[in-house]
Amino acid sequence: MTSPFGNEADSTPLRPELRTSLPGPRAAELVARDRDLVSPSYTRSYPFVMARGERVWVWDVDGNRFLDMTAGIAVVNTGHAHPRVVAAVQEQATRFLHMSGTDFYYELQVRLAERLNAIAPGDAPKRVFYTNSGTESVEAALKLARYVTGRPRALAFIGAFHGRTMGSLSLTASKPVHRRGFAPLLPEVIHVPYGYCYRCPVNLTYPECAVACLDWIEEQVFGHLTPPDEVAAIIVEPVQGEGGYVVPPPDFHPKLRALCDRYGILLIADEVQTGIGRTGRWFALEHWNVVPDIICVAKGIASGLPLGAIIAPRDLMTWPPGAHANTFGGNPLACVAALATLDVIEEENLLENATRMGERLMAGLRALAERHQVIGDVRGLGLMVGVELVTDRQTRHPAPELRDRLVQACFQRGMLVLGAGTNVLRFMPPLNIRSEEIDLALEVLDEALQEATTG
Ligand SMILES: Cc1ncc(COP(=O)(O)O)c(C=O)c1O
Repeated sequence: MTSPFGNEADSTPLRPELRTSLPGPRAAELVARDRDLVSPSYTRSYPFVMARGERVWVWDVDGNRFLDMTAGIAVVNTGHAHPRVVAAVQEQATRFLHMSGTDFYYELQVRLAERLNAIAPGDAPKRVFYTNSGTESVEAALKLARYVTGRPRALAFIGAFHGRTMGSLSLTASKPVHRRGFAPLLPEVIHVPYGYCYRCPVNLTYPECAVACLDWIEEQVFGHLTPPDEVAAIIVEPVQGEGGYVVPPPDFHPKLRALCDRYGILLIADEVQTGIGRTGRWFALEHWNVVPDIICVAKGIASGLPLGAIIAPRDLMTWPPGAHANTFGGNPLACVAALATLDVIEEENLLENATRMGERLMAGLRALAERHQVIGDVRGLGLMVGVELVTDRQTRHPAPELRDRLVQACFQRGMLVLGAGTNVLRFMPPLNIRSEEIDLALEVLDEALQEATTG
């Protein structure tokens, strides 16, 4: 088979065939075994059982091919099994697999910190703390903020998803199922309205509103709940991910930054989903020209190897030896994968490709919205694109069942997509997706919409 990484035309037809009988026999058997043996808390929407992947294409255990518009949930930004990343991991695997970065040194952690320093916004020299996942990055950011400010409280946004361990779960306010049964959570967390203009939390319209949703913090929170000098940090997703791919308006993040500055509150950017090129910039807050105090990354940083990090100015990351550490954070295989990922994004111009492909996708979705009344809103940045589904455009009544039917209809047509929020379909393909694959995704969605709205 011709590799989809090459420039030469792929010999397999672009369009996977329509299947109405998924899962196939091997997938069905594996899913049944999984049900007995693996935690039922995972949220699998359909029975895709991975066998292998190349760039934006994945194959299941029955040999069926799918267009992956999920990138393994915004992780494989360089595509599945990019040869550069694979080679770097293979080469490192022959040298050493692990040597706790907590207790010893190795060059890869230093080199990666240098690279992250070079791409992170802001002029101040920075330090990096390595983690294994997004939730751990958020935990580290919260601990650092408390440690350096000596303040107990944190603010987070309604609709936010920051992870599922106890600290990050306390900041998460996306779906009740994430929190049900796990109380008591961390005290001293207060949730405030996000800049969700399609469903404005304060019932106003941008730009006349002057981003009044953020005034809630000073008027209500500082007016009634906590003095600002007891707030260590405000944590924000530049674009809300799991909460529904919500892009806040142009003044939102600058106004939030100014508010933090007024009260000496640290601004933590949770760039776990938006970071490392996903939105067409290395970090999404660059779109707003805002420099946060602490940046959380994970997901896309190492093309699929488990790695996360927090990045903060050197004079802020001052906690002493023993204050925070872990065994596996900054694992050498993950670090080489991250270095290769950054190289690939740079050398293959993937920031630019993410911008162009995202625009093509959104233009196509807006064209679909002219024919499909159930599309209430199309929004996104780069290759982080959401489609909000409604039963009625006037009332904007959410259509969660339709969204779920669409996810299934896409799967049967050979395209992997996922939901976000209750009624949003999200597209976050690898950053090296090509225009003909974007067009194919639109074609499949068009058919799925026809089926799901008439069926
Ligand atoms: C913005 C954001 N923060 C944190 C997390 C948690 O990351 P992880 O699942 O790696 O713990 C996620 C995961 O979806 C996320 O989207």
